[in-house]
Amino acid sequence: MIPVPYRSIINGGLKPGKSFTVRGVVNTNPHRIFFNLRHIFGIAFHYNPRFDQNKVVCNTWDGHWGPEEYPAGMPFKAGQPFEIYIFCTDHSFNVFVNGVHVCSFKHRFWSLNEIDVFEVAGDVQINHVDA
Ligand code: GAL
Repeated sequence: MIPVPYRSIINGGLKPGKSFTVRGVVNTNPHRIFFNLRHIFGIAFHYNPRFDQNKVVCNTWDGHWGPEEYPAGMPFKAGQPFEIYIFCTDHSFNVFVNGVHVCSFKHRFWSLNEIDVFEVAGDVQINHVDA
C-alpha cells in the first residue's frame, strides 16, 4: 500500500507525452477523490470524482477556482479497483479510467514545465503509481 495523500515531484516538470498511472481501490462509502497536477501558484489540473454528487468535476486553481468542467459519466465505483491513466498532450490533459477515455481538459495553465507535483488524495487506497 502507498500512503494517501500521495505526492511526487515531476522531474523537470511536465511535457507533452508525459503520463501518470495509478492503480488502487476506491474506499467503501467514499466521498471524494482528488487527482491534482500542481504548480507553485496552484493547480493546473484538478480531476475530482465526487461520489456525493455522482459526477466528476475538473478545474484549475490559481488563487481561486476557475470554471468547472463536468466530463460525462462517473467511472469510479465505491469499493472497486481501478486504473487511472492521465496523459498530457500539447493542448490538453486526457484521462482514461479502466482503459476508457473519460475526460479531455484543455490546458488553461500553459507553462507545462512549471507543473511539478502530482498528487492523489481522498477516499482511495493505492497500490501502484507510475508518475
Ligand atoms: C470546490 C471544492 C474543491 C474543488 C472545487 C472545484 O467546491 O471545495 O475541492 O473540487 O470545487 O471547482
